[in-house]
This record gives sequence, C-alpha cells and structure tokens, in this order.
Amino acid sequence: MAPTLRHLVLVGLMGSGKSTVARRLSQRLHHRMVDLDAVVEAQAGCTIAELFARRGEAAFRDMESQVLAAQLASPEPSVIATGGGAVVREGNRHALAEAPDVRVVWLDARPEDLVRRVGGSAATRPLLADDPRGVLERLDRERRPLYGEVADHRIDTAGRSLDEVVEAVDTWWRMQCRSGGEEEAS
Ligand code: S3P
Repeated sequence: MAPTLRHLVLVGLMGSGKSTVARRLSQRLHHRMVDLDAVVEAQAGCTIAELFARRGEAAFRDMESQVLAAQLASPEPSVIATGGGAVVREGNRHALAEAPDVRVVWLDARPEDLVRRVGGSAATRPLLADDPRGVLERLDRERRPLYGEVADHRIDTAGRSLDEVVEAVDTWWRMQCRSGGEEEAS
C-alpha cells in the first residue's frame, strides 16, 4: 500500500532559503516547522558559532545527526529545514533516503546568489568566516552530488522569489501526497 507522507525535508546550501521556505510551508500545510540548527542550538545551550569554536565542527555534526534522526522518527508531520551540511555524513543521507514516508526537496541556488544573501553572516555561520565566495563555490562543488543523492525533487531557485519557491514546493508536495508518494521524482 502507498505510504502516507509524514515529513517534508528541505536541503541546500547556506542561504538557499530553507528556513524561510519551511516556515511558510508549515503554515500552509498546518504542519510543525522544525529548524535543525535551532534544535541543535537549544540542546547545546549556545549558538552554532559558539559550538564550533568551543567543541569543533565534528561535535556539531554529531549533534546535527542525532537531531535529524530524532526528527525523522517523530510521528508528528513536519516540515524540516536542515543545515546546509546535513548531507555530508553518509548516515544522514541513508536516513533521508530510507524513510518511506519522508520526501526531500533540494533548494538549488547559485553560489553568486548565496554570497549576496549570506556573505556577511560569518558571525552566525562559522564556515563563512574567511572568503565566503570561495567557500560557497567549494561547498557547491562538493555537495551538489550529495544533495542530488538524497533529493526526491530539485527546485532551481535562480530567478525565483521566495514566494515562488514556496509555491513550487507546495505544489510538488501536494501532488506527492495525492499520489501516495509514487509520482516520479525529478
Ligand atoms: C552549515 C550550514 C548552517 C549550519 C552550520 C553549518 C554548513 O546552516 O548548520 O553553520 O555546513 O553548510 P544553514 O544552511 O541553515 O545556514
């Protein structure tokens, strides 16, 4: 029998609009919105920048993986905004791919657009501390195949407003729900 879909997960690089799009979608769908970065910060009792500085990126990735697994296991339907690096660990990619009632949408954005949006946010995004453009271009190259591996659907955000992106994800998700998740992924 076709599964009932439970979680809609957004992946993509820093600044691709995951949190904003997830918040708006959760309002439209009447689902809970979960921002994995915010959950990690609440559990750690400090900001992500402080966590990186005090305990290093690996400790952050451990927490991020635990929080992702816990949210995927939650029975409550939700729209989940991941951090841009949530796809780096193979276990996370596996968890996203394995869950039958979870769909993953990749908000694909060009590094030059991302630099404009988040180039100055080094205080909250530690990976962007030096050379934001160079970092975003490198992460784009490294992670593009990983986002592609987990995504059931890719949305090219170039030239689209956030409202248009929300609309596109909403339309695709509703189509998935109607078909029990068996529409061909694109
Ligand atoms: C990261 C992205 C950030 C945050 C952390 C690491 C990454 O989340 O999880 O700074 O590795 O790309 P956003 O994508 O929400 O900025």
